[in-house]
Amino acid sequence: RARIGVLISGRGSNMAAMIYAAKASDCPFEIVVVIANDPEAGGLKLAAAEGAPVVALDHRGMKRAEFDAYLHAELTAARCDYVVLAGYMRLLSDGFVDKWAGRMVNIHPSLLPKYKGLDTHQRAIDSGDRVSGCSVHVVTAELDAGEVLGQTEVAILPDDTADTLADRILIAEHQLYSRTLANFVTRNVRPDALLDQVRDLALALPEVE
Ligand code: GAR
Repeated sequence: RARIGVLISGRGSNMAAMIYAAKASDCPFEIVVVIANDPEAGGLKLAAAEGAPVVALDHRGMKRAEFDAYLHAELTAARCDYVVLAGYMRLLSDGFVDKWAGRMVNIHPSLLPKYKGLDTHQRAIDSGDRVSGCSVHVVTAELDAGEVLGQTEVAILPDDTADTLADRILIAEHQLYSRTLANFVTRNVRPDALLDQVRDLALALPEVE
């Protein structure tokens, strides 16, 4: 199974959904570490209760690149194949993004390329949109701009506030993130792992006379 490191900053409900998804025996990924940049992040307790290894870091007083070097060291120590950002609200340094190029994904609460950055739900409502949603994308140096891997549309109701819309989009996020990640890691299987599978299959086949 692909080894996933999850980065969080807050309550971690997307992280929780991913931990629960990984309990299924046919899930192609496992959560090997959960790291927060804020030791008070609510998601840490939840992850620990589920038996996930957790690391509580504190970014305060640290330069971005210096902090990201700690992050990278923890992810490497846990032998992560992929990094998943789940409500991780701190910009990452270009050096860190480079190290995980093509192996780091994020979830964003809008239908990208619409409404990059913050305050997505209010901006969708103020624009008179009938639909918003969420997107999972590959992380690149430019904010919320990497390849979109999956999206779910969510209807905006006439009386929606940013909070009520956020609550419904979050339900869609919890489903979209695990499903998209499962597809992504399956599609991205390393060539050496594929070769191993072919060899195992060949060994398992009965010999033909
Ligand atoms: C989620 O809605 C996620 O899409 C958003 O923060 C929330 C985190 O909730 N992320 C961003 O806005 C990233 N720019 P969670 O901690 O319960 O998963």
